[in-house]
Amino acid sequence: MKNILVTGAAGFIGSAFARYMVKKYPHYNIIVYDKLTYAGNLNNLSEIDDEGNYRFERGDIAARDVVRGILQKYDIDTIVNFAAESHVDRSILNPDAFIHTDVVGVYILLDEGRKHGIERFLQVSTDEVYGDVETGYSTEDDRFLPNSPYAASKAGGELMVRAYHVTHGMNTVITRGSNTFGPYQYPEKLLPLFITEAIDNRPLPLYGDGMQVRDWLYVDDHVTGIDVALHHGVAGEAYNIAGENEQHNIDVIKAMLKLLGKPETLIKHVPDREGHDRRYAMNCDKLRALGWQRQYDFPQALALTVQWYQDNEWWWREIKTGEYLEYFKRQYADRLAAADQDQPNNH
Ligand code: NAD
Ligand code: TYD
Repeated sequence: MKNILVTGAAGFIGSAFARYMVKKYPHYNIIVYDKLTYAGNLNNLSEIDDEGNYRFERGDIAARDVVRGILQKYDIDTIVNFAAESHVDRSILNPDAFIHTDVVGVYILLDEGRKHGIERFLQVSTDEVYGDVETGYSTEDDRFLPNSPYAASKAGGELMVRAYHVTHGMNTVITRGSNTFGPYQYPEKLLPLFITEAIDNRPLPLYGDGMQVRDWLYVDDHVTGIDVALHHGVAGEAYNIAGENEQHNIDVIKAMLKLLGKPETLIKHVPDREGHDRRYAMNCDKLRALGWQRQYDFPQALALTVQWYQDNEWWWREIKTGEYLEYFKRQYADRLAAADQDQPNNH
């Protein structure tokens, strides 16, 4: 492993991975390849701009000729793919881009990677491929029951990775992370959206009863999990990366509000997300057996995250303009209006 193409690393988790890899492995060259969609942001990578073992290239993972050119230019031997459309609500509003990137893009990366003679291919996936887990914990051999267009497209990408391993003997590994949070997360996902809205004393649109369960994983722990799977994972295998920290959404938000010193009256119960999974939960013994260990507990990681958004308003205020505001209106205007009618005293 020497020249690593990290795709989608101008986003939240990929940029954390790139920042970590550039510093931890000075003898690797880290080439970030990213389309810079609404979710991609070069500010996420500015910390490593001046590092000699880091390069950035802009492009689409589904653009075959461009991908081929980059693999040749940098003599790439390893691909770690973070590139994805990643937000469930957007996949409900407009799934096209999800099929393009999460299915077709993964296929193009695999196909060009194979022709180029890639030695290792890691696909970053999600616990959402397992679907709603009423009881117990998903293990890597459980069947896929994706419920949102996002989850279905991620499952499709994974199946293509599996096919390239079985059919062509490609050296592939898949990781399935749980709900991740931390600095530089685009403010459309639950925590960064609610932290930044709460800072501005705006209503927090909690879907349904807020009793859905997610397993919260700090971004730095997700990154070390991918590092361990990349270096030690068995070819053809998948590894769950879990926070082992199940929480109801409403409890996460109350803890966040307490850290910010803001009142719980900001919470508004709004009409639910369509097809909303009630619970995700995974077992991650398989990755632990490779030597992975989490470093952060939830209260500590939540406090670090809240503090980061308080200290870095420059980062998120620049994002919360233009297209973002249009998306926000489309996703929340009717929901918040409906909540106003249902709960007139709740603001
Ligand atoms: P993100 O939305 O913050 O970033 C996605 C990045 O991919 C952006 O930089 C975007 O510009 C880039 N991108 C999108 N389409 C592209 C294309 N066609 N070609 C090249 N680049 C493209 O996402 P994230 O939260 O950092 O998630 C990263 C990966 O981790 C995704 O594959 C996601 O499915 C997976 N994942 C996320 C979570 C989570 O809680 N955020 C949990 C488990 C797994
Ligand atoms: P999200 O961050 O979108 O992640 P995912 O859907 O991939 O789990 O949402 C996390 C949880 O928070 C999920 O149960 C949906 C809920 N949620 C809200 O209640 N309100 C919101 O505005 C958002 C974005 C999410």
